Amino acid sequence: MQVHLAEHLPRNRRIQLGGYYTPEKLVNRVYELIKPYLMAKKENAVVFDSAGGCGAFLINSESYSYRIADYDKEACGVLVNRFRKENVFCTNSLVGVKRERFSIPESSFLIMVGNPPYNDTTSEFRKGEKGENLCDPDLFDRDLGISFLRSYHKLRADLVCVLHPLAYLIKETSFGRLREFKDHYRLKRGDIFSSDIFPGTGLTKFPILIALYERSDVGMTFDYILNFHFNLLERARTFVLANYKTTDRHIQKYPPGKNAPKISPIGLYYYSFRDFNSLKRNASFIAKQIPNSIVVTIENFYKYSYLYALKRLFNPEDSWLYGNLSPLFLGDIERDKRIYVAYALLTHRVLQEMDRSNFKKLLEYYRISHDDLADAKTLEARITSKLNKELRVQEMSGSMEAPTTAANRSAILTERSEKKCKSGECQQQRIQFVDD
Ligand SMILES: C[S@@+](CC[C@H](N)C(=O)[O-])C[C@H]1O[C@@H](n2cnc3c(N)ncnc32)[C@H](O)[C@@H]1O
Repeated sequence: MQVHLAEHLPRNRRIQLGGYYTPEKLVNRVYELIKPYLMAKKENAVVFDSAGGCGAFLINSESYSYRIADYDKEACGVLVNRFRKENVFCTNSLVGVKRERFSIPESSFLIMVGNPPYNDTTSEFRKGEKGENLCDPDLFDRDLGISFLRSYHKLRADLVCVLHPLAYLIKETSFGRLREFKDHYRLKRGDIFSSDIFPGTGLTKFPILIALYERSDVGMTFDYILNFHFNLLERARTFVLANYKTTDRHIQKYPPGKNAPKISPIGLYYYSFRDFNSLKRNASFIAKQIPNSIVVTIENFYKYSYLYALKRLFNPEDSWLYGNLSPLFLGDIERDKRIYVAYALLTHRVLQEMDRSNFKKLLEYYRISHDDLADAKTLEARITSKLNKELRVQEMSGSMEAPTTAANRSAILTERSEKKCKSGECQQQRIQFVDD
């Protein structure tokens, strides 16, 4: 039987248990990372996979002390045949969490390994197929994977080397939800790979991390994560979150708050989004107000035109890497707004079918002539090349430029061009990127 494939489980059980078992090369990488600690601690080390499935992570288990737990009965049936019975625990690892429950001495150097379930990210979860998270109240989170990370702190693990979505670290709200875990553990090494390594995890790919954490009194701040140099697995490439600018703080991504206007003066809305993956998945411009809609106005239209262009045209080789980030802020959106607006007006069905007087108002406001709307292919090619070029600039930048800097610069440019318009200097010109 293939312990890496959860072959014994039907699809709906696999989803409920988070049972996408781990390919061998990822397990081997975990071993490479913990090996120096295992060697140093020798007799005193205990390796524990508390969501062990069929035991994929316990390779060479005859050479060290180990424990393995899983609450799936069928997986346990496999475990008791493969491992020493006294080391197998068929139980919910998130209830009554303490070392004693798993016969782990307080004095042992405890190393947690594995690929604990995570289930807030897949579409199956939203369709309600997932089970509930039954756990100690202090471990509860809507995402099982976060509960598992917290349980490692409760076990006072000395070292943690597990797979989990990168989003737990790079989304500031998720990072906060790690609570005591982030205050007591420090990331030492992080190798990123795409979720498509797991067959059947859904169409939207997202980044997963092989993370090595040491127990530490210093813990981690979000700034530490922002500047951390992650590696791309089997690639000579790093990923530093601080190098990327996102549209957060520049473009509203959620529906208007309680007292904000909910009706668009031009009858246009944009479907709300959380991150780049949901931007790509969701609808874009819509003609009617719905609970998930953002209000589009003449003034902010160019921002949503940019997002629409990004959704359609930004598709770099590693696009999965940016899936959990807010959409990237590539280039100077303010400065290049006319080309984004023209592209949206030319290619989006809802915009072509909108009220003609509102369409005209948009053309006038952004100083776009009918000639500018002649050739979608050329616009597409120019935007694609612009986005890719700007991405390379951000990838290469070791700079710590704050995300607001670009906006400040844009704001200055807009102010200048508005002044020019008032003084009659601004005339209709063909749409151009400033650095075309
Ligand atoms: C993603 S699989 C990983 C299995 C194995 N570690 C591997 O990588 O091949 C997650 C496993 O966690 C188990 N699991 C989920 N919730 C659990 C819980 N609360 N307690 C114990 N096991 C759990 C599932 O039954 C499943 O076998």
